[in-house]
Amino acid sequence: MATVTFDHVYKKYGEVTAVSDLNLEIKDGEFMVLVGPSGCGKTTSLRMIAGLEEITQGDLKIGEKIVNDVAPKDRDIAMVFQSYALYPHMTVRDNLAFGLKLRKVAKADIEKRINEAAGILQLEKLLDRKPKELSGGQRQRVALGRAIVREPAVFLMDEPLSNLDAKLRVQTRAEIARLHQRLGTTMVYVTHDQVEAMTMGERISVMSMGLLQQVGTPQDLYDHPKNKFVAGFIGSPAMNFIDIPVGTGDLNIGGFSFQVPARFADSIKTAGRTVTVGFRPEHLELGDVVGPVGTIQGKADVVEYLGNEELLHVSVGEQEIVAIVDSSHRVRPGDVLDLKLPSEKLHMFNTDTGDALVPSAAAAVA
Ligand SMILES: Nc1ncnc2c1ncn2[C@@H]1O[C@H](COP(=O)(O)OP(=O)(O)O)[C@@H](O)[C@H]1O
Ligand SMILES: [Mg+2]
Repeated sequence: MATVTFDHVYKKYGEVTAVSDLNLEIKDGEFMVLVGPSGCGKTTSLRMIAGLEEITQGDLKIGEKIVNDVAPKDRDIAMVFQSYALYPHMTVRDNLAFGLKLRKVAKADIEKRINEAAGILQLEKLLDRKPKELSGGQRQRVALGRAIVREPAVFLMDEPLSNLDAKLRVQTRAEIARLHQRLGTTMVYVTHDQVEAMTMGERISVMSMGLLQQVGTPQDLYDHPKNKFVAGFIGSPAMNFIDIPVGTGDLNIGGFSFQVPARFADSIKTAGRTVTVGFRPEHLELGDVVGPVGTIQGKADVVEYLGNEELLHVSVGEQEIVAIVDSSHRVRPGDVLDLKLPSEKLHMFNTDTGDALVPSAAAAVA
């Protein structure tokens, strides 16, 4: 087992900076997810850990050792790719054995490791089949198995579920989480899907345009996003944002009316002439709410019935927001709504920089 540490790491391809000044410590045995939109530098970061990309600047450590110049095969890592890249002419058993034979692992040891991995991944009955005789999910399990038999210090996975259909993705997601619990090995898992990140990660690193935006537990990122990018990326449907001129106390625009929560009283003074407020669709309520609230008046344009909840597209003055409310309200298109938002659920951002306004500690509960 091992830690993985990025120390001021850069990766440049000519003029393109794919990863910029990355500082990140992945703990021993941790399940770390790298998440962000396509092109933000996730794969590049993972490939630098694997040794498949040269590091332009900075240091990468596995355990205590700087590995910038260590060959991939000497790094004690195993990587699972999006395309499983199984050898089509070999059986599952031979696919699992191949890397170990190359490394001259003893025959009896190979067999033992294959049987263990097959047990964990329920591949026992498939060992003599060829990849073309397997379903997509089974092939993905073989790809995972090939990584497991290596018994690496670190597992690297790059969007390993993206070729699976929705149902199988959810199943395999749980399988990988169980696998991690069972093996306790450090895992670095790349995905563009924030739901995957939230459900699988012990901690999540959110990246955008080559820059690490925030590292934290799923709950940290959801409750305390450091900036508007993270706030909008984590959570589905996405957080609503409204820009509001800063007046003399209240936040007012169109149908939106809010007292500045006491915790932001200091930081709003330095925020500029406009602030961006943020609130999540699921925190809006139609019924009674205990404690301080803001109100948002608007007209329901579209109602999407989801069973126990309904998703409302609401026009508030010039803006469009999304709300999720209990479906017992039976909102109809055209209804005028009085939505309430608990004060503690309001986020505020500097409109120019996107940085979250820092709540003052003294008034943290207000
Ligand atoms: N071999 C390469 N040559 C030039 N640019 C590259 C190369 N690989 C990746 N990039 C660029 O680096 C950036 C990050 O890519 P990547 O790490 O693959 O993103 P992600 O995995 O987050 O989608 C992108 O702008 C991409 O176009
Ligand atoms: Mg990628």
